[in-house]
Amino acid sequence: MFESLLPFFLLILFILFLLIIWRINARKYISSNTVASAYDAWTQDKLLERLWGEHIHLGFYPKEKKNIDFRKAKVQFVHELVKWSSLDDLPKGSRILDVGCGIGGSSRILAKYYGFNVTGITISPAQVKRARELTPSGLNCHFQVMDAMDLKFEDGSFDAVWSVEAGAHMNDKKKFADELLRTLRPGGYLALADWNSRDLNAYPPSFVEKLVLKQLLEQWVHPNFISINAFVNILRINENSAGTVISENWNSYTNPSWYDSIIEGIRRPFTILSLGPLAIVKSIREIPTILLMNWAFKRGLMEFGVYKCRG
Ligand SMILES: C[S@@+](CC[C@H](N)C(=O)[O-])C[C@H]1O[C@@H](n2cnc3c(N)ncnc32)[C@H](O)[C@@H]1O
Repeated sequence: MFESLLPFFLLILFILFLLIIWRINARKYISSNTVASAYDAWTQDKLLERLWGEHIHLGFYPKEKKNIDFRKAKVQFVHELVKWSSLDDLPKGSRILDVGCGIGGSSRILAKYYGFNVTGITISPAQVKRARELTPSGLNCHFQVMDAMDLKFEDGSFDAVWSVEAGAHMNDKKKFADELLRTLRPGGYLALADWNSRDLNAYPPSFVEKLVLKQLLEQWVHPNFISINAFVNILRINENSAGTVISENWNSYTNPSWYDSIIEGIRRPFTILSLGPLAIVKSIREIPTILLMNWAFKRGLMEFGVYKCRG
């Protein structure tokens, strides 16, 4: 009897072990230094890049198009955000700032396909190093370590400011918006995408939703989430925005990313296996957070906000 139940007990023990590691190794936000360390580690172990490619953001899955994989959906996302925010109205050579640029996936597309002159900044020195390695010489695309909350650029330095999935790591969303709009020239284009919670004052979270939100914050160095409308209001009242701010919720386009990000590991098993046993444990360690994200975005507890406005 005991022997027949042994595999079952071992499986339960293994799952418990993974959940303990998941909790103990949570990446709680303390300051932008904790964000920098987390992205340095994610970059240096090469797992994210091998698995998901050079873009650290969700993909865009057009409703009419089937069989698009996670990597293609990420590239599609960049083109969709360019189109939606009318960035493609800008002439070649326009100066673009990519805030929280990761290892430069979006920056290189903006430079290569649209002919822009791109400056990417991130808080992670390892990402800057990797972004430079990945960027062919001759491409108008440069990277610097910088804190988005304290941009070292003159007012109005850029024709467009672009930021994808970086705002959720910012402690003070107003200061973040101030810096983005300060560096944008009058009449320039702002294009943003970010993870938001639903309006938690109007629709308070249940007990379970509170527990889930706590994990989503603590697992991936997020200080807080705010609603799409709250961020629209922050942009709208800023002295450097031209007033009209347009936002949309892209959950329906981006939600397939969550399962697809796990399936990617099955599609390309050698990308993980070739990095050794630790990489396998590290990738399994992210699965509970991905599943909780999937649950929260599908339920509408989390919302994928996109924003555009003019300087
Ligand atoms: C989810 S990744 C998105 C990366 C990139 N935008 C992309 O789409 O591939 C978040 C990025 O924001 C950057 N970031 C977070 N906090 C930052 C800060 N205070 N200043 C500058 N970059 C920051 C991280 O280093 C990381 O590059």
